[in-house]
Amino acid sequence: MEDKLKTIGVISLKGGVGKTSSVICLGSALASLGKKVLLVDGNFSAPNLGLYLDLFDVDKTLHHVLKREINPSEAVYNLDSFDVLPCSVFGNFNISPMRLKERLRHLKRSYDLIILDSSPTLNEETLAVMNASDCLIVVTTPDHATLGMTLKAIKIAKQKGVPIIGLIINKSYKKRFELSLDDIEKTSEVPVLAVIPYDIGFLKSLADFKSYTDYSPRSEGAEEFKRLAAVLIGEKYKPVKLRRFFRWVNPRKQDINREIYYQSVFE
Ligand SMILES: Nc1ncnc2c1ncn2[C@@H]1O[C@H](COP(=O)(O)OP(=O)(O)OP(=O)(O)O)[C@@H](O)[C@H]1O
Ligand SMILES: [Mg+2]
Repeated sequence: MEDKLKTIGVISLKGGVGKTSSVICLGSALASLGKKVLLVDGNFSAPNLGLYLDLFDVDKTLHHVLKREINPSEAVYNLDSFDVLPCSVFGNFNISPMRLKERLRHLKRSYDLIILDSSPTLNEETLAVMNASDCLIVVTTPDHATLGMTLKAIKIAKQKGVPIIGLIINKSYKKRFELSLDDIEKTSEVPVLAVIPYDIGFLKSLADFKSYTDYSPRSEGAEEFKRLAAVLIGEKYKPVKLRRFFRWVNPRKQDINREIYYQSVFE
């Protein structure tokens, strides 16, 4: 894949929309496509990437890396499908988030892709993730309050000159009262690359410290993450037969957007 798309930041300026879950699902889906992936917790003051993956009590973390106490590779933990660079959950660290980009530079050589989780607040941490990312995916939910913050995140990313490759609409109930994909796309002027339904399976997978894509691999959400992962690396994901037939007959807007993304980057 193109080197410029190697580090992907997953951002939103609203809490609980599904950034960490999306980072894990994308990591797992990319790994299942044969890629070597590192997930990095860029939510320094309220980290949960490690917690979601059963990495509770680790000695060496990104906090130590940012303080230059250890080398970045010393804080990398190898899980079954991907590697993780977690943050310290406890401890009173005085760190410089803006060092993130420089501290990840060497690790880039060892991975096909690095996915960065981020803080929901507009602070130095979020700016550090933007700065360290080659491109961004913005996670939103289909409601006005979140869309407002999504627009803010997009504006800041544009000001910083970091390309946004697309939006993930998460926790969709598929109800008419929700904002539609078209509403969100027209307002944000950013293509929607995936729509993930609300599914209690996300909470169950969390209780099992698993990626939702592994916990519920045949679900619509898992397949959508796999399609997104595939297009990010220039591959085409082949869904189960019946779904493939329906999608071919009746492609959804996000299917078309992914195809456009594929053609613009890989053809
Ligand atoms: N599509 C979904 N359906 C149902 N629950 C979901 C979905 N996506 C995420 N969740 C749940 O929502 C909660 C918040 O998700 P997550 O921690 O990924 O959000 P976040 O944006 O990273 O939050 P924060 O801003 O606090 O870091 C978790 O309990 C997660 O399991
Ligand atoms: Mg999170």
